Amino acid sequence: MNESVRHLREQMTLTEKASLTSGANFWNTKPVPRLGIPSIMLTDGPHGLRKQGGAADHLGLNSSIPATCFPTAATLANSWDAELLHRVGEALGDEAAAESVSVLLGPGLNIKRNPLAGRNFEYFSEDPLVSGALAAAFIRGVQSRGVAASAKHFAVNSQETHRMSIDEIVDERALHEIYLEGFRLAITGGDAWTVMSSYNKVNGTYANENRELLDGILRRRWGFDGLVVTDWGGNNDRVGGLVAGNALEMPSTGGVTDREVVRAVEGGTLDAAVLDARVDEVLALIEKTSPRGAAPADLDAHHELAVEAARQSIVLLANRAGTLPLGPGAGRIAVIGDFAETPRFQGAGSSLVNPTRVDSALDALQAAGLDIVGYEPGFARRDAASTRLRRRALALAARAEAVLLFLGLDESAEAEGVDRAHMRLAQNQLTLAEDLIALGKPVIVVLAGGSPVELPFAERVDAIVHGYLAGQGGGRAIVEVLTGVVNPSGRLAETYPLRYADVPSSKAFTKTEATSEHRESIYVGYRYYDKVGAPVRYPFGHGLSYTAFSYADLVADATTARVTVTNTGDRAGAEIVQFYVEAPDAAAGVFRAPRELRGFVKVRLEPGASATVDVALAEHAFDVFDVAAGDWRTVAGSYAVLAGASSRDIRLSASVEIAGDTGSEADTAQLPHYVSGHVEQVTSTEFEALLGSPLPTPDWSTGRALTRDDIVAQTKGRGGFGGLLYFLIDTSSDVLMRLRRPLAANNTRFVLDLPFRSIPRLSGGKFDDDMLVGLLLMVNRRFFRGARHLIGAALRLRARNSRNPKAN
Ligand code: BGC
Repeated sequence: MNESVRHLREQMTLTEKASLTSGANFWNTKPVPRLGIPSIMLTDGPHGLRKQGGAADHLGLNSSIPATCFPTAATLANSWDAELLHRVGEALGDEAAAESVSVLLGPGLNIKRNPLAGRNFEYFSEDPLVSGALAAAFIRGVQSRGVAASAKHFAVNSQETHRMSIDEIVDERALHEIYLEGFRLAITGGDAWTVMSSYNKVNGTYANENRELLDGILRRRWGFDGLVVTDWGGNNDRVGGLVAGNALEMPSTGGVTDREVVRAVEGGTLDAAVLDARVDEVLALIEKTSPRGAAPADLDAHHELAVEAARQSIVLLANRAGTLPLGPGAGRIAVIGDFAETPRFQGAGSSLVNPTRVDSALDALQAAGLDIVGYEPGFARRDAASTRLRRRALALAARAEAVLLFLGLDESAEAEGVDRAHMRLAQNQLTLAEDLIALGKPVIVVLAGGSPVELPFAERVDAIVHGYLAGQGGGRAIVEVLTGVVNPSGRLAETYPLRYADVPSSKAFTKTEATSEHRESIYVGYRYYDKVGAPVRYPFGHGLSYTAFSYADLVADATTARVTVTNTGDRAGAEIVQFYVEAPDAAAGVFRAPRELRGFVKVRLEPGASATVDVALAEHAFDVFDVAAGDWRTVAGSYAVLAGASSRDIRLSASVEIAGDTGSEADTAQLPHYVSGHVEQVTSTEFEALLGSPLPTPDWSTGRALTRDDIVAQTKGRGGFGGLLYFLIDTSSDVLMRLRRPLAANNTRFVLDLPFRSIPRLSGGKFDDDMLVGLLLMVNRRFFRGARHLIGAALRLRARNSRNPKAN
C-alpha cells in the first residue's frame, strides 16, 4: 500500500475518516484542511462534461458549463472502433482536467437488455464483448489525462422504472456471461480507477451493499483495487456499503450517515480496519487525480473529433438500387422532418451536455450543393396531430423528385429515470411517412434515437440512414454520409427486432413492481433471435457500405482467428469483421446460444486492396460459467469459428477442436425452454429451477404498513394521506408534461422512486429520521398521530440546529 496514503490516514481522527467517505455537497468530496487533503470533484459524464456551477442536480435540470457533446455510447458502439473510443476518452479527459474535475462519471455499460429501457442511449450494446472492449478503450483514454473514469452502473441496472428499489433477479450464468462480462473487460482491460455501484438490488441485495458483487467478484475475482462510489443517493445502508466495498457516498447527506459510521465503529459493529481500507481508497484516488492546473481544452479540435466520431458511427441500414449516395443527379430534394433543423443528438438526464455548438443537418445540406427545394418540419416534435404541418410537407414533396425524411425519438422518449412505454415512433411521424411513401417518389429516411424502434415502413422506403444520437457534430456527419463524402462504416451493436412483442424480455420488462425477472437468462438480443430463428428487421452487426467486401482464407485456433478481407468495390471503405463462435450441439449438457461474438476488428481498405487480419479471440470464447463450480469452464468439443459481416451474414467457417474440462453437468431436463431457446415461454417453475431457489414475491403488498425501506410510489392506491401524496406527485408530473417540461416531469419520477429512508439523507439537514417516523405514520393512515410526531420532531430538530448550527 502507498506509504503517503497510510501516513495521512494514520493522522486522521475517526470523525475525519467517516466524513472523508461521503460527499461535501453534490459533486465534491470533503477536504481535510488540517492535513492538506484537498476536495476533488466528480462530474458527469459519459459523452461530455456536465460540470455545474450554480444549482446542482443529477437529472439534467440545471445548466452546466459548455462542453463538447460527443455521440452517446449507443452511437459510438456502432463504430466498433476501440481506437476511436480511446480518442474520445482522451478528449473528455482533457476537458475534465481543464475544469479541475477529477472523476468523470462514465462510461455507462449496462447491457441493452430491452429496447424500452430509458437509458439505453447511454449504454453500448446488447453484447458484453462490444460493451467491454469499447468501454475499456474509453477508460484508458480518459485516465491517460490523470482523470479517473467510472464504470457504471455496477450491476444489472436493466431498467429505469423503480430503479432505486427494483430487485433484478438473474441466474448466475447470465449474471457472469452477460451482465458482468462487459464490466470485467472494461475494468480489467481499462484498469478503471473507480466503479459506480447501481441503485438496484441484484438477487435480493442492493448492489451498493452487495458483498458478493463488490468484494467477491469486483475485488477478489477481478483484482480491482480502485474506489467504488455510490450512484447519487444510492446508499441504502452506509455501514453495510463500507463493509461490502463502497468507499464514497455521493452526494452529501449533511453528515447524517457519517454519524452512523462513527457510532458503528465506536459500538464495535464496524471494524475500524474496514473503514481504514475505504479511507485509503479515497486518499489514493485524491492523490492520483488532484487537479494539476491543466491547460484549457481545444474545443474546436474536439468539435472536429465529435464530427469524426459520428462519421465512424452512422449506420446505413438500407439502400435500394444505389439510392445513396446523393449525387448531382439526385434532382430536386425536399427536406422534411423537424429533426433536420433541430437535431436530436443526445439523451436526457444526468448525461445532458450543454454543447459548445450544434451542427444541424439542414444547414449542412444547404451547404452541400444539392438541389434542395425547401424544408418543412412536417410534424410536431412531441406527438400530436399535425395536419397543417403535414399538408405543407406534402405540398413541398409534390414539387420535389426525392424526399429526405428526418424521423426519430423525441427528447422525452429517452431519458434517465423513465422507461419507454412502447417501441414505436410517434404516430404523427408514421402518418407522415406513409403519406410521403404514397407519393411514389424516392424516400430516404434519416433516423435519430438511441435504441431500436419498430420500422413498419422499412421495406417501402428507398434508403435508411441511422444517425443514432450523434452528438453535436452529427448533423454534418450525416450529410457527409448522405452525399458520399463519407462511406458509412457503422454496424449495429444491437438487433433491431421487427416488433416489440418479438423481444424475449417483452412480457417481463417493468411489469412487476418489486422484482424484475430476467427469465430469458443468457438469451439477450441476437443470442435469442438466432437461437429460435426469429425474423428480425436488422440483425446484430448489420450495416451497409457504398463498397463491398469479400472474405477469404479463414484460419482459427483456440486463441486466434485470421482472415483476408478484400474491398471489391470502387470506393475506399471500412469493414467490421466479426468473429463468432458456434458451440457444438448439446455440448456437455449446457444450453448455449448458437453463436456468440468472440472477436472483431475494423479494417479500412482502398478499392481493390486486401488485408489479412489476426484477431485474438475473447478470453472466455469457449467457456461457460459453471454455476456449481463457481467459475468459468471450457467445454470440450468441435466448435466452428465463423467470420461474418453480421450475426446473420456469415461468410466463412473454420472448425476448431477444443479440449475442455469436465464439469458438473446441469440437469437440463427441467429447463426445456432454455434448451430450445424459447425463453419467452419460461414459467416460474422453470425459472426457479434455473435459479436454484424460489422466486421472491414480485408484487408490493398493499396490505402491510409501509416502512422506511419502501419507496414513495408504494403509497399509490392506499387512500388517506398516502394516496393523496401519490396523487399530488403523479399529477404534478402530468402537469409538467403538459407544460412541455419533460425533464422536470422526470424529476417527479425520481421522487416517486425514492425510498423513504433517503428523504432525511437528501434533505440537507432539514428533515431527520424522527420526522420520517411521523411521515410514515401519516402515510400509514395514522394521520393525526403522525402529524403530531412530525411537528414535534421538526421543532426538536430546529432547536438542535439553532443550538449547534455546524451539526450538519
Ligand atoms: C445517475 C448517474 C449519474 C449521477 C450523477 C444518477 O442519477 O444514475 O449515472 O452519474 O446521477 O449525476
